[in-house]
Amino acid sequence: MKLSSANINVMVNACRKASKIIIRDFGEIENLQVAVKGPGDFVTNCDKKVEKYLIEELQKARPNYSILSEEIGEINKDDSFRWIIDPIDGTSNFMHGIPHFAISIGLEHNNEIICGIIYDPIKDEMFTAEKGNGAFINNKRLRVSARSKLKDCIIFTGGPKYGSIDQELSMKEYKKFSEKVDIPIRKFGSGSLDMAYVAAGRCDGFWTRNLNYWDMAAGIVIVKEAGGFVTDFNGENAYIENKTILVTNSKINKEMIEVLK
Ligand code: IPD
Ligand code: CA
Ligand code: CA
Repeated sequence: MKLSSANINVMVNACRKASKIIIRDFGEIENLQVAVKGPGDFVTNCDKKVEKYLIEELQKARPNYSILSEEIGEINKDDSFRWIIDPIDGTSNFMHGIPHFAISIGLEHNNEIICGIIYDPIKDEMFTAEKGNGAFINNKRLRVSARSKLKDCIIFTGGPKYGSIDQELSMKEYKKFSEKVDIPIRKFGSGSLDMAYVAAGRCDGFWTRNLNYWDMAAGIVIVKEAGGFVTDFNGENAYIENKTILVTNSKINKEMIEVLK
């Protein structure tokens, strides 16, 4: 079944149009202006342009919805609906000419993400989901992988992140994980696409610290609707507050929690 709710359509249209700005700037990265936000954390003039454009488009369609967006922060209006926006997730990849980044938009209703879109403009892959209606990639149904043993899996991570408050913890976890299980661990630099890839069954699990709400918002509903689990490292629901997230195909969840302990 194809998703076609009014909100999803608004998100799809905004992403498609905004992606033209990204593709144009990606072709001329030598002209990018880059500013440093923190250790290993950058923003380009393209992030800001895309954010502005997305906000204008979303506000045109839904003038009363609130917004939380990575670069500009909060726009408070109707409390019950809120767009959660990351204009470019994978900025470091983008500014180095690595074609792996995405626009990510989640729609929150009464504090729960009910719609999500993650759009990789270079590969033209659009991951979408709406609560209760399944997850899709370019309108084809998505499903998490069926692998049930961690030893057969490929896992993604985002850490350790240099300069972050829990850098040390993150490094210990990485070491422990790779000592306990001899499987491929990959780090691709876009948290939203990491989650989308779990939803698509390309990867079986993903764990990381320091993931902001705008990195994970769309991914939460996409993974859940594809049959996966989103929890913190203890299998609980505090992943937004703690910024510590474990995403799996559901079948390896227990094993992942054990290994991360
Ligand atoms: C970053 C990416 C990266 C993750 C970082 C995020 P940005 O987002 O999602 O994969 O490890 O924690 O900050 O800065 O490129 O939007
Ligand atoms: Ca991000
Ligand atoms: Ca970003």
